[in-house]
Amino acid sequence: MPDTARPNSLDAFWMPFTPNRAFKADPRMIVRAEGMHYFTPDGRSILDGTAGLWCVAAGHARPRIVEAIKRAAGELDYSTTFNLGHPLAFEFANRLAGILPDGIDRIAFTNSGSESADTALKIALAYQKARGKPGKFRLIGRERGYHGVNFGGLSVGGIGRNRAAFGPMIGGVDHLPHTLDISRNAFSRGMPEHGVEYADALERLVLLHDASSIAAVIVEPVAGSTGVIIPPKGYLERLRALCTKHDILLIFDEVITGFGRLGAPFASHFFDVRPDIITMAKAITNASVPMGAVAASREIYDTILEASDTPIELFHGYTTSGHPLACAAGLATLDTFREEGLFERAATLAPYWETALHSFRDARHVIDIRNLGLIGGVELEPRSGAPTERALEIYRACFDRGLLIRVTGDIIALSPPLIVEKSQIDQIVDTLRSALNGIA
Ligand SMILES: Cc1ncc(COP(=O)(O)O)c(C=O)c1O
Repeated sequence: MPDTARPNSLDAFWMPFTPNRAFKADPRMIVRAEGMHYFTPDGRSILDGTAGLWCVAAGHARPRIVEAIKRAAGELDYSTTFNLGHPLAFEFANRLAGILPDGIDRIAFTNSGSESADTALKIALAYQKARGKPGKFRLIGRERGYHGVNFGGLSVGGIGRNRAAFGPMIGGVDHLPHTLDISRNAFSRGMPEHGVEYADALERLVLLHDASSIAAVIVEPVAGSTGVIIPPKGYLERLRALCTKHDILLIFDEVITGFGRLGAPFASHFFDVRPDIITMAKAITNASVPMGAVAASREIYDTILEASDTPIELFHGYTTSGHPLACAAGLATLDTFREEGLFERAATLAPYWETALHSFRDARHVIDIRNLGLIGGVELEPRSGAPTERALEIYRACFDRGLLIRVTGDIIALSPPLIVEKSQIDQIVDTLRSALNGIA
């Protein structure tokens, strides 16, 4: 029977990062969302403990954003930004520049975090070439880093199972060690004390490859997708200092940490460390329309433009870069963040969040708790011979009890929308505790 005769069949959609066979045998469906909640087809409400996928920072279906998208769709459905401008793209870039760290304000639009990572890496390479250093071609990522699924981001990324099926990756890439050190830092509140020296591994890579061959280092200020790794005190500062010392660009992948997640506009503000390039996506439009962006320093932008011997200075861009609907959604998202003081709200709630999370310290199976801003990670002891199984059971148990969490390996990652109420933080904690108590 042709699929068109079975519009509700689950067969045709090849779902991303999903065990397709298991899901389709026992699907969990969502049909609506509002504020802090998702709703199932039978009308059950599910508290969103993960802001979708770290992206719905202002909560779901916010009226201002919905209206802006509707208006934009009726006015200008699409225009290329190759050689043609539309006002919303310039306006949105200017507004973003206004909340980014000073001088990191030349903005290229993409459609996702993965595209932002690859765009940033390409800008870094183009900059080194433009300033007469084409030999600086190496890109340094970090173990357990996640920079999306395209070949550049995958190559600098450090999650083995994401790379395993896809061949040799791009050349000229090396990795710093990750900074998770449970033996010394378990149950740290906020930034862990130990591990600043993990940044010194960059000196070893410089000895190995020579700084004259290294273009850029890319890290997530707080690693999210790998299961919440908070940078040790002083680590990002030291990484910055070493990059400066060796004339290497520093890229912060702020796809998760951007737009208030830590209680400041960007992690760069929160840690007071200035990278050369910042990538973003997800909450840039509150995830209402797909979009990403890369902000480069003026020095990078000016150097590439001035060195160009062709009219087009950077041969890069996407059909839907700066899409009108995405720009309209992004502007309305920034308005919502500002009107509701959501970045400040995240900062104010962070201590309550920290205390709530650390109440799991003596809970069954818990071997570490990590937090910063409105991010939380609870690491479980893997079940002997069956890693990830325990966390998956917790995920299902929470969903059945009306709470959406995220699990990665044996780590539970939490990142509620920044509009979360204290009573909802309590609900997240109570539900998770009852799920933990209910499993072996
Ligand atoms: C730090 C980071 N970079 C890049 C990405 C990829 O973003 P996308 O899934 O929008 O391609 C993610 C997604 O989780 C991320 O967390």
